[in-house]
Amino acid sequence: MSKIATLEIDGNKYEFPIIEGTEKELGIDIKTLRGVTGGVTTIDPGYKNTGSCVSGITFLDGEKGVLRYRGYSIEELAEKADFLEVAYLLIFGELPTAAELEKFDRDIKEESHVDEDMKKILDGFPKSAHPMGVLSSLTSALIAFNPGSVDVDSEEEMYNAIVKILAKFPVLAAWTMRKRKSLPLDYGDNSLGYVQNLHKMMFARPNKAYESNNLVYDALDKLLILHADHEQNCSTSTVRIVGSSHAGLFASLSAGMSALWGPLHGGANQAVIEMLEAIKEDGGDTAKYIAKAKDKNDPFRLMGFGHRVYKNFDPRAKIIKTSAEEILEDLGIEDPVLDIAKGLAKVALEDEYFIQRKLYPNVDFYSGIIYRALGIPTEMFTVMFALGRLPGWIAQWREMRLRKEPIGRPRQIYIGENIRPFVKVENR
Ligand code: CMC
Repeated sequence: MSKIATLEIDGNKYEFPIIEGTEKELGIDIKTLRGVTGGVTTIDPGYKNTGSCVSGITFLDGEKGVLRYRGYSIEELAEKADFLEVAYLLIFGELPTAAELEKFDRDIKEESHVDEDMKKILDGFPKSAHPMGVLSSLTSALIAFNPGSVDVDSEEEMYNAIVKILAKFPVLAAWTMRKRKSLPLDYGDNSLGYVQNLHKMMFARPNKAYESNNLVYDALDKLLILHADHEQNCSTSTVRIVGSSHAGLFASLSAGMSALWGPLHGGANQAVIEMLEAIKEDGGDTAKYIAKAKDKNDPFRLMGFGHRVYKNFDPRAKIIKTSAEEILEDLGIEDPVLDIAKGLAKVALEDEYFIQRKLYPNVDFYSGIIYRALGIPTEMFTVMFALGRLPGWIAQWREMRLRKEPIGRPRQIYIGENIRPFVKVENR
């Protein structure tokens, strides 16, 4: 029997259906709330208790530390799949057959050129510009070179827009890094796989043979998979809400990138390494920084710790920690910040403040250590997150369009002045 929630306001009772998800999650369906109550709304800053949609893409259980894409555990995907397969799975709902994967790969490669005039736009940015700002602008600029709007009723148009952005975004990301390093812009090599080509586009030198490295490719592949989707987080919700106005895919993605940039979201991976470096410079006293994080008069937060939905270990952080240890060993790198990170985590996990608030290391805590070992500059860390999250954003945008969701437009409760007469400037 379906469940019902009853709400009582001033002695009047209202009933609302309760929706049950496939993993037994319950949500009170308040679509009719304002209508039946004569305008009563809900208030939930930060949407801590609000479900914005039903979705069939990603399941996560923050209490148990579970994350699955389309029903497949993140642990299994990180170990056995490659990034392009996961992208296909997220966007289209099923793992691709060999023929589907081959076609997807071919279609992406077919679109992997970027209009030469885009280079002029990139050139307009100062070298010191943060890559996330440059990249969200370049993604927006791509609209000018690919102006056709996507017809939501046409699977074909949607598919074309999807392969275009999956193809062009890594080129733009690599160019953004190369421009900072004063290197010539490189087009990569379509005979390579998606992740290998991304690496080549980022690192190939004009005067040196490019060396492939499977250890590096595997580490990158895993990181991209682990970042590929995370249901209705800040940037994904941004992509969905922008797309809900029928803005095109590239415009929605560009907005999502701006949301990801913030240090409380994807920007945390850069902030973590900067924090670990600062602790190292300061003599490596982790206890001092734990005390700062607990001090309510100190704005310092332990970056890479805590999560809106995980009240247990972030399953991605567990995989990344092991992976960081392995890659550093395999590449023969000794990075003292890994020890500082492990020391911080140990102290925090035994501290009452962190235990009580259920604060655990999140995906960003160890990822920067791997990026650094791979030679990726700190300011590019959030770009790496964006490269991974791209298929998730696309999948969520596509789902929102296919479900014909209404424009996103929350309500508010007004707490400003009541009506008052205008006073001319000379009388104020
Ligand atoms: N260091 C110290 N205290 C913290 C931290 C932290 N990193 N995170 C949360 N708290 C405290 C917070 O002060 C609050 O304490 P109290 O109840 O005494 O006021 C309590 O824990 C709950 O925190 P909140 O800010 O209300 O929780 P939230 O769900 O609004 O915020 C968060 C989640 C991720 C923004 C927050 O934990 C944070 O700022 N973490 C550091 C930034 C970070 O690592 N972000 C990456 C998130 S994972 C990647 C992604 O998907 O974006």
